[in-house]
Amino acid sequence: MKIVIPYSPLEHQVTMHKDSTRFKLIVGGRRAGKSVSCFQEMLRHCLSTPTAMAWWIAPTYSEAREIGYEEFLKYFEVIRPAIRQVHHSLMRVEFKNGAKMYFKGADRKDSLRGRGLTFLVIDEAAFVPEDVWRKVLRPALSDRGGRAILISTPNGKNWFHDQYLMANPPSKTAWNTFFWPSYVNKFMTPEEIQVAREELSDADFRQEFMAEFLTKAGQVYDDFSEENVLSEFIVDKTKHEIFIGVDFGYANPSAACFMAVDREANTVTQFDEIYKERMDMPAFQAKITEILTNHELRNRDVKVIYTDPAGNAEEITSGISPVDFLRKTWTVINRGTRIAPGLSLLRSFIKNANGRRKYFVHDRCRETIRSFNGYTYKFKTTSEEIDEEALKDGIHDHMCDAVRYFFVNEFDHAKYVADKVNSTPYYDTTKHAIIIKRCTKCRNPFASRTSKNEPPFQCKGCSDDE
Ligand SMILES: Nc1ncnc2c1ncn2[C@@H]1O[C@H](COP(=O)(O)OP(=O)(O)OP(=O)(O)O)[C@@H](O)[C@H]1O
Ligand SMILES: [Mg+2]
Repeated sequence: MKIVIPYSPLEHQVTMHKDSTRFKLIVGGRRAGKSVSCFQEMLRHCLSTPTAMAWWIAPTYSEAREIGYEEFLKYFEVIRPAIRQVHHSLMRVEFKNGAKMYFKGADRKDSLRGRGLTFLVIDEAAFVPEDVWRKVLRPALSDRGGRAILISTPNGKNWFHDQYLMANPPSKTAWNTFFWPSYVNKFMTPEEIQVAREELSDADFRQEFMAEFLTKAGQVYDDFSEENVLSEFIVDKTKHEIFIGVDFGYANPSAACFMAVDREANTVTQFDEIYKERMDMPAFQAKITEILTNHELRNRDVKVIYTDPAGNAEEITSGISPVDFLRKTWTVINRGTRIAPGLSLLRSFIKNANGRRKYFVHDRCRETIRSFNGYTYKFKTTSEEIDEEALKDGIHDHMCDAVRYFFVNEFDHAKYVADKVNSTPYYDTTKHAIIIKRCTKCRNPFASRTSKNEPPFQCKGCSDDE
């Protein structure tokens, strides 16, 4: 029986598909077409290799489901005649020729034990721990001479970068490498690339879209300069929305940044700050009110105070948590946030890839300016490698944290974050997501874009019979 897969590879993907090297490594920008094409490689392998054992590994179990398994579901109806059974919750597919295709997350290490792999895809490999590849997955390919494709956007110069260097020149190794900046995907329009330049700093754009391996220089906010500092600025309630970012301390200084957001110009101006040790909560609150008054603002002009979950800790002096204390006067949001996307977002406001600055600090905010200039990355002790987690030196981190809490909570940066795999599809998202229903006639599972209570209730094979 002939199965025709509705997939036509783009030029760069054709080159990769034609290559039969045992190990392939694709370094690519966002949306370059890595996941889609490598799923096709895996599918072709399973359809043409009886008793194949193919694994799709993503950094996390949920990414394996949202990207890898979702890609499988898109083709489920078409390849159904070749499938023996599907275990939806375990994400396991068994083909009639005996081939097996499993989807797994590298965060569930116990599920990765196994031997006899004939094919492996590691999606976003630079975000998978090195040991998972070297000590767990690579050995599992040995006994049956299995093939592997490692695909990823760069994540600094980590093990994926070493592997890329090791694989060059390709002709002398069992590896071939492919370099796909985002623009190789013709579905990625120049307008979209332009939006990304606007929303990312130059360094992040080069990493995420141009697929360059970059080592972050010592300074986290190295683009922060005099051009971000202004000496004249008047807060205008009719034009600006007011927010405060807070990092609580007691023995350590408490830090607060006062932000005026101009939605029209899309700029943020920090017009004042607090940076002081050993302030109890009543004193801290009084200081906030005093600063607001200096700018002819009242407590109720503050839209939200953003802080971190640690602010929940009991404050000995006042008996209640700092957050609860401030909640008596203001709306306080204290969600947990990941560091890397916050740093990336703030960098893009300091200076984006188009050279535009959208975050300004008044020169009265001396602690903020000092903190930005001294905020450096942590070097790992064993190598010169830099960790994305910035240095907690107790000197520069408090104000930088306060500013970051404001940005990460107030602006949606989910689209281009560096440490989260982006799974926004280009296809029509107004349609329902694909779900699995059970055919009322043959009881086999089938993929459907309608909800569980809506037709069709039978798979394509059964409804064609009638
Ligand atoms: N050959 C193709 N034909 C049609 N659309 C394609 C093709 N290749 C990729 N695309 C579309 O381009 C988009 C990006 O593809 P894909 O998800 O494979 O990229 P990626 O490099 O894995 O991106 P990310 O960095 O976000 O993981 C998807 O919407 C996909 O449907
Ligand atoms: Mg992908």
